[in-house]
Amino acid sequence: MSDSASQRLNLIHNHLNNNNMTKSSMSVFQDVAQAPPDPIFNLTAQYKADTFDKKINVGVGAFRTDELKPYILPVVKKAKVILHENEALDHEYLPIAGNPSYTKAAAKLILGADSPAMKEGRFAAVQTLSGTGANHTGALFLSKFYTKSKKCYISNPTWANHRSIFSLVGFDVQEYPYWQPETRGLDYERLLQCMREAEEGSIFVLHACAHNPTGVDPTRDQWKAIAQVMREKNHLPFFDCAYQGFASGDLDKDAWAVRYFVEQGFELFVCQSFAKNFGLYGERTGNLTLVTKTPADAQRVLSQIEKLQRAEISNPPAFGSRIVDIVLNDPSLYQEWKDNLKYMSSRIIEMRHALQQHLIDLQTPGTWDHITNQIGMFSFTGLKQPQVKVLREKYHIYMTDNGRISMAGVSSKNVAYLAKSIDDVVRNVPV
Ligand code: LMR
Repeated sequence: MSDSASQRLNLIHNHLNNNNMTKSSMSVFQDVAQAPPDPIFNLTAQYKADTFDKKINVGVGAFRTDELKPYILPVVKKAKVILHENEALDHEYLPIAGNPSYTKAAAKLILGADSPAMKEGRFAAVQTLSGTGANHTGALFLSKFYTKSKKCYISNPTWANHRSIFSLVGFDVQEYPYWQPETRGLDYERLLQCMREAEEGSIFVLHACAHNPTGVDPTRDQWKAIAQVMREKNHLPFFDCAYQGFASGDLDKDAWAVRYFVEQGFELFVCQSFAKNFGLYGERTGNLTLVTKTPADAQRVLSQIEKLQRAEISNPPAFGSRIVDIVLNDPSLYQEWKDNLKYMSSRIIEMRHALQQHLIDLQTPGTWDHITNQIGMFSFTGLKQPQVKVLREKYHIYMTDNGRISMAGVSSKNVAYLAKSIDDVVRNVPV
């Protein structure tokens, strides 16, 4: 080849290479927009990065001791020893729907041993990746097999993940009124009105107890009226129960609404999380129970859910469910668990009183009764976003933008600082 011919060939090669380079340097993902940080978990990251000594994390709902340390329930410690010493256990796969002794115990816990649905065998249960997984699995099943409506109602305000979970599987997600700012309580009449006006057969996501984020629950009479309207409109109740036993300290009391709906003959879904009441946050231990008209309905639904579960996670993780299984199926450990629950719920209630008392003593403008009237992990303070921002930037106190405080992040040591900071923003930050 002549010099000029080989030069031309080189030029062609370079040209082709450059073109390829240009092409390959552009990602096929270049149009993917940056997603906003998670409104709850990002607070933990910000809190951890903060070096101020009086910083407070009242963002994520995770129980802390009065020393603000994560709490491993004593009964969980015992169950771990039992688990460790059990030579018969191995690391084989669990069944797709989880271990029946676990799912049945979880269903019994929420429905109650005397539940007509349990006695008649018209229920089924599947182990899920905590409460979020239960919500997702239930939502996914409904998106494929529930034909009455594509509308799903979540509360306003809402736990942010409910919207994401139900939108992800294609539901038209609407909100029902829940919080009334004037009374700092339930927007009862408007909630009922919304249910009456909703399309027949809509799905309503209901918080079984300790509503997240408000800490406001309907009274029993209000639940009865809600059930009546839902029956008239053939709405489908989809309960989310993340705080059974943690809310009031009483497992039966916290399950009352779900059990009432079952007694009234509803078909329903109920999601359970063992994150808070067992302190098994990272173990992703949950359960989805469904109640139907007949045992055969329940088994057919379960078979489809198993098919979905197989495609998504194959089969659920073993560790957390084994702990829960051991405790729920052993009478003396079960009793001990109830004592552990009492300790956690009492500490939260104590901190509610302490925060309220400090605000009263400081004569902070406004009323603060709602702090002790609300129940569960959270207090919906009524603080507005500009005040929340100042609390974060000036006082290093991390709470969600909607003014929700995780009471578990309040302790006898930081409550005075928290109250004084709230007092300042209530007086001085215009909203
Ligand atoms: C919360 O609301 O802070 C917790 O339930 C954690 C979560 O998953 O959002």
